[in-house]
Amino acid sequence: MDKILVHGGRPLSGSIKISGSKNSALPILAATLLTREPCVLRHVPDLSDTNYMLQILMYLGAQVERASGTVSVQAEKVESVAPYDVVRRMRASVCVLGPLLARCREATVSLPGGCVIGDRPIDLHLRGFEALGAAVRVEAGNVRMFTPQLKGAIINLTGKFGPTVLGTDNVMMAAVLAEGTTVIEGAASEPEVVDLANFLNKMGAKIEGAGTRRLIIEGVQELHGAEHDIIPDRIEAGTFLVAGAVCGTGVTVNRVEPSHIEAVTTALVSAGFKIDIHERSATVSPNGASKPLEIVTAPYPGFPTDMQAQMCALLSTTEGISVVTENIFPQRYMHVAELKRMGAQVQIEGSTAVIQGVEKLLGAPVMASDLRASAALVLAGLKAEGTTEISRVYHIDRGYEHLDEKLSELGAHIERVKAD
Ligand code: EPU
Repeated sequence: MDKILVHGGRPLSGSIKISGSKNSALPILAATLLTREPCVLRHVPDLSDTNYMLQILMYLGAQVERASGTVSVQAEKVESVAPYDVVRRMRASVCVLGPLLARCREATVSLPGGCVIGDRPIDLHLRGFEALGAAVRVEAGNVRMFTPQLKGAIINLTGKFGPTVLGTDNVMMAAVLAEGTTVIEGAASEPEVVDLANFLNKMGAKIEGAGTRRLIIEGVQELHGAEHDIIPDRIEAGTFLVAGAVCGTGVTVNRVEPSHIEAVTTALVSAGFKIDIHERSATVSPNGASKPLEIVTAPYPGFPTDMQAQMCALLSTTEGISVVTENIFPQRYMHVAELKRMGAQVQIEGSTAVIQGVEKLLGAPVMASDLRASAALVLAGLKAEGTTEISRVYHIDRGYEHLDEKLSELGAHIERVKAD
């Protein structure tokens, strides 16, 4: 298992190119199961999660070809059963449920296990499938669904913690082939949901309202093949901007959609940094003393939960008291214990982290616990005095394409070593 060593204290500068979005690519890859015709996707990031989704598609019968960032998928025939061994390693494998139900009218998919960022139920996904006329049973760790014909319905997908991103994706992918019109109220409006809707529309679906809380989907008989460019990864872009804030003298992220990262750039401006936005790029640079912040995570366009850990890393060395409240996954604070090992002063009170900025962090051996927590530890390591040794880096490889190489390009002293 690899480890990452970050030798702190090097200033970052320069520019890097942002990869395609992981959270767009995963459901869009699943959506290729909706047609027997070939689909071509560009800017698919080379990550263990996307490779894993490709393995699931191949298991289900699809032909897959990959040439650097371009992936071609043709699912002429599709199996409707995905057992535990096939899906267990990635929670996002649940997004094959909707396409399988729509294409095969039945699906048996094992439930992926829990996850350190919280409980992660799929009750809202299942409620949506039921509303579309599927008989749904959860037994022996599997979701089994069957329907003679999906029928359009009015569905509200808002749960206790707000809208569900993959739940909206899943129900939308089932509804595109349902008979009649489906209205999804309380839909997620994240850019990744819009990207999926755009891809489905290119395949012949009729979806209106993507990017709002209300989707109207007029079912069609069948979908055809399509080509699509995956949007830039707004969380990768945000992570590099925060890295630039942590220890940069001017860091530019290229190939970004500035409106998608506005919550992060606004927060960085409030924290005292200078942000320059151009059509497809953003630059962060220091602008005098940085300031503590109050951050509350919220569904898009609010501050993304997927940037909360990285922001905690920045705020842990920002003078003053910062308050971070996690409203999407209230227990998503696994990074805090590790940051504290590096000298951060953070108190968790319910779903709130109160951070007292310290003058410096000290490098230490730390353990990655999930994707974004791992990124936070890398950022803390960039700032820390000495060497930070991060183990379990497979979490990073799930969602950041060549993170260590890109940081090296910016001047970081970071290396990947084989651990025993
Ligand atoms: N929820 C329910 N019932 C459901 C579904 C969700 O109660 O049926 C709750 C969740 O427990 C959570 C909230 O609703 O409290 C929102 O969860 P959501 O369903 O939106 O999360 P997701 O779709 O499973 C995606 C991203 C996550 C990101 C969240 C929130 C992908 C593959 N994953 O997950 O990304 O944190 O939306 O924006 O798109 C990551 O990339 O590191 C990551 C975890």
